[in-house]
Amino acid sequence: MDKIKIRGGKQLNGKIYIGGAKNAALPLITATLLTEDEVILSNVPALSDVTFLNKLLIELGTQIEETIVQDGEYTSKTYTYQTKNFKSLTAPYDFVRKMRASYYVLGPMLARAHHAELSLPGGCAIGARPMDIHLNSLEMMGAQIEIKNGYVIADAPEGLKGAHIIFPKASVGATCNILMAATLAEGETVIENAAKEPEIGDLIDLLNDMGAQIEGRDRSVLTVHGVQKLHGATHSVLSDRIEAGSYAVAAAITKGCIELVHAKEEHLEVPLYILKKMGVQITPTENSVIVDARHADMQGVDIMTDYYPGFPTDLQAQFMALMTVTPGASMVSETIWENRFMHVPELMRMGANINVHGHASAIVRGVKKLSGAPVMATDLRASFALVLAGLVAEGETVVNRVYHLDRGYERLEEKLQSVGADIERVHEDD
Ligand code: UD1
Repeated sequence: MDKIKIRGGKQLNGKIYIGGAKNAALPLITATLLTEDEVILSNVPALSDVTFLNKLLIELGTQIEETIVQDGEYTSKTYTYQTKNFKSLTAPYDFVRKMRASYYVLGPMLARAHHAELSLPGGCAIGARPMDIHLNSLEMMGAQIEIKNGYVIADAPEGLKGAHIIFPKASVGATCNILMAATLAEGETVIENAAKEPEIGDLIDLLNDMGAQIEGRDRSVLTVHGVQKLHGATHSVLSDRIEAGSYAVAAAITKGCIELVHAKEEHLEVPLYILKKMGVQITPTENSVIVDARHADMQGVDIMTDYYPGFPTDLQAQFMALMTVTPGASMVSETIWENRFMHVPELMRMGANINVHGHASAIVRGVKKLSGAPVMATDLRASFALVLAGLVAEGETVVNRVYHLDRGYERLEEKLQSVGADIERVHEDD
């Protein structure tokens, strides 16, 4: 198993190219199941989650072609997807167990083939992660749903029907799944309290280009007029706001200056505002955001995670790493996931001063320095928080379980090396 070794203390300066968004790419890939035509997705990030979802689609009968695209210093992937016919309508346990987002195949399969079987995802490191909103909504659209042997078995022999649905929570996953299902349903579907994350807007753009009729992009009420068929389209994946936000923290924590090429300021308003409040200079340009902490007189700040456009839960761990070395007290409140402080004990092993209150809040008191240690985390963003801590810690930090990082950060060590970090990937037998 690979490890990441970091010798801390380097100021990071330069340019990092932000890739396509993981959380946009995953639903976009499953949306290709809605048509028998070719769908071309460009700017797809090189992530293990993408490779994994592609494997599931191949199981279902999709033909996939991959091209590597080099544009100056920026590398990305373009995939062509075509699902003429389904070979299988089952997403098996082994896939869903390893990647929850496999559940995005449910809506498209049920909509197009009127039947779908999906191993029910269990909880995961960050919380219970139920699917009730997805399933209740599909039932409201006329699907018959049965849970048997750990599988959701969904049938809609006559096809799905439009419905008026009010989500009890603005779930990202349910919004994507139900939007995809509704594109081919008969009549009109209205989703109230839909999630407004930019990745959903990206999905709506692709679906509308495929012939869907969705109104309300970026708003909490979405209206979908069902159509009989969708057709092929070409789409470029939105840039990853969470990757950009993570490297913004890398600039801040090392008191460096990084230009985040492709980052979109408008998708990072709250995290960038928090950085500014801490003392970091933020300068948006036409195609990038420059994060400059070289002269920052940093001070503690409070954050509370929330649905978009609030502070993203997926940046909570990274900001907490920054707070551990920022003078003064900072408070972190986590409102989305019930178990998202797994990085805390590991940061404390590196010398951080953090007091967790219950499951949802933590007080961080900035310390003068962290010291390197072998660490590991049980999820993707928590793992990146440990990399960040390693970048400023004295001595060597070894981050284990790199497969978490590979799920969501493409070429992480290369990108950090390019701005001056002393970081390398080592293979267990090296
Ligand atoms: C997505 C993101 C994840 C991010 C999260 C919140 C992907 C692949 N993952 O996850 O990185 O942390 O949004 O921004 O895009 N809930 C229910 N019932 C449901 C569905 C959700 O109660 O049927 C609850 C969850 O327990 C959670 C909240 O709703 O408390 C938000 O979850 P949701 O937005 O669905 O998260 P994901 O789509 O799983």
